Amino acid sequence: MEAKLAAQKIEQLKREIDHHNDLYYQKSAPKITDFQFDLLLKELIELEKEFPQFQSPDSPTQRVGGTITKDFESVTHKRRMFSLDNTYSPEDLIDFDARVQRGLGSTDYQYFCEQKFDGVALSLIYKNGLLEMAVTRGDGTRGDNITANAKTIRSVPLKVKSDDIPDEFEVRGEVVMPISVFEEINKGRVAANEAPLANPRNATSGTLKMQDSATVAKRKLVFHAYSYLADSGRVNSHSEGIQKLEQMGFYVSPTFKKCNSLDEVQEYITIWEQKRKTLDVETDGCVIKIDNVAQQEELGFTAKSPRWAIAYKYKAETVSTRLNSVSYQVGRTGAVTPVANLQPVHLAGTTVKRASLHNANEIERLDLREGDIVFVEKGGEIIPKITGVDLFKRKADANPIEFINNCPDCGTELVRKEGEAVHYCPNEKACPTQLQGGFEHFIHRNALNIESLGPETIKGLIESGKIRTYADLFSLTFDELNGLEFRVYSDKKGEYSSRSLQEKSAQNIVDSIKQSKETPFPRVLFGLGIRHVGKTVAEKLADHFGDIDAIAAASFEEIEAVADIGSKIAESIVNYFADEENMVLIESLKNAGLKLKIDPSDSTQITSEVLGGNSFVISGVFHTVSREELKELIEANGGKILSSISSKLNYLVAGDNMGPAKRQKAESLGIPIITEEDFMKMISK
Ligand code: IVH
Repeated sequence: MEAKLAAQKIEQLKREIDHHNDLYYQKSAPKITDFQFDLLLKELIELEKEFPQFQSPDSPTQRVGGTITKDFESVTHKRRMFSLDNTYSPEDLIDFDARVQRGLGSTDYQYFCEQKFDGVALSLIYKNGLLEMAVTRGDGTRGDNITANAKTIRSVPLKVKSDDIPDEFEVRGEVVMPISVFEEINKGRVAANEAPLANPRNATSGTLKMQDSATVAKRKLVFHAYSYLADSGRVNSHSEGIQKLEQMGFYVSPTFKKCNSLDEVQEYITIWEQKRKTLDVETDGCVIKIDNVAQQEELGFTAKSPRWAIAYKYKAETVSTRLNSVSYQVGRTGAVTPVANLQPVHLAGTTVKRASLHNANEIERLDLREGDIVFVEKGGEIIPKITGVDLFKRKADANPIEFINNCPDCGTELVRKEGEAVHYCPNEKACPTQLQGGFEHFIHRNALNIESLGPETIKGLIESGKIRTYADLFSLTFDELNGLEFRVYSDKKGEYSSRSLQEKSAQNIVDSIKQSKETPFPRVLFGLGIRHVGKTVAEKLADHFGDIDAIAAASFEEIEAVADIGSKIAESIVNYFADEENMVLIESLKNAGLKLKIDPSDSTQITSEVLGGNSFVISGVFHTVSREELKELIEANGGKILSSISSKLNYLVAGDNMGPAKRQKAESLGIPIITEEDFMKMISK
């Protein structure tokens, strides 16, 4: 393409992408799918790569990330970031209003009510309309410069739309992870045998501190702007500031309301206490601000917070129920988690029977006794939490709950490392749950992908002594598997029944074990189940070191120098390779023919999560790949195949000669119909 034409096309694409961004974030009325949006972005990336002279700092391509920040620079806020005083009752609010009235010596003021978004506060500095720096709140005086990560957030304008702006101004707001995104990520983590993230707020703050901005870009965070600050070009009221933010292209949640009296404020709180549950973001209260800026200045600040604003926190829903018992679960890594078994109770739409107690410290903190009546709450956490004990209902002779000393599965004495809250069963290589869990992880779809070997068969093989280490899988023969006896537990009957492995299944298992030797190195590394080494860390290690010997030989410092690998992970890796038995296992896996180094030809063997759990129906005849290959590509990239079109479907991949009825149905349900070529572009990202 000729340069002049490229410049024009780049401008046109930039405008088009910004327009769709606006429709999505400001108007909540997207006209194209995420996929079509990504295609536009991809076209722009390619053009800018070819014609770098036309790349500008406000280009939406700046949002795809790729910058690695090892240490976030600490910077001083130009204007201190205060926090808010909290209130919990209408009486507190009346007191606040009385203080305001006294402070102003007048009743002539208005309030501006907003939701209190539960995320991470961020300050954005704009110079000449361009985003210059993004800084976290930190301690209010100094925060971390996370500009590279903030640029990946689509609702953070890289360049503001309005011309009526001062040379320098600051925008503050809350970065949040939508609940839908949070749930999607957790679905993926559970499928990949990784611990789910605790709540959207923690997920947001963890994401913003990631060293690789390309990963941040994938997390779909949203910036909710709530304050505009400038030295020149100031506004007279908060509402004017909010209006200005919207004009500049910021996303302002439409949940605000200007209120003329305290009664109106109370009404706003009552309405939103319920209505907030319909939002795709978590809110933990309302923020009530004096609207007029001159009056804000008159009231001023205390050492910590403004006198012109206050947060009204919603109460988390709480119920009380009886603690029936505490049981202990051993995880794949040997961590022992106490679980409270509760008298079933209804709470926030679900029946709660169990609550995690996390660790021994938590039992101690709550001072739990047998038969206690406990308070259970569903706050920001997905799993219900015991928040306290009803001491009035405690029996005088109730025995304290004592944490167990021995593993509930193998009896080995538990250990607790200094400074750590968790008890571990140290019998990693023989504790049945750990062994079983380790094997299940090793054969998982994201690791060696030998899922024809179900958990019961694994159990049967362990119990019959046929497998002890992962390497043993590779010497299993058809004869050993054919007719293998194993037990299956029926939830309905609550008992085990005996089964034996059929010829066909035995052959399937032998074939898939053989096939698994082609598994690319990063997935083998992930499959080893090294503590704290998830899929992404395994990929980073493999990329950085190239082969397992180099990882085994690397020092703590060398490992910690890899992006996104902290001291906890590095320590765990060093410990893993210091264990002679693990080194023997690796030698055996090498001898079995597994890939323990990066194989350049694997780069085309795509295994990713780019399709992010989206579902596909494929129909018609394809040219570049067969239907079978297309199915494999969908699954290998984290997509799902459905057999029929329904409202749950995300995409219909249409080949030649697809029946008109299918097209009609997809169109009537508004499901995007994509070509084979579109699909290939989708996974080549
Ligand atoms: S205004 C000077 N408005 O709450 C006060 N804060 O405890 C400036 N927050 O650090 C804050 N939603 O992270 C304001 N609509 C909203 C908010 C909000 C959430 C957070 C923010 C702040 C914390 C104060």
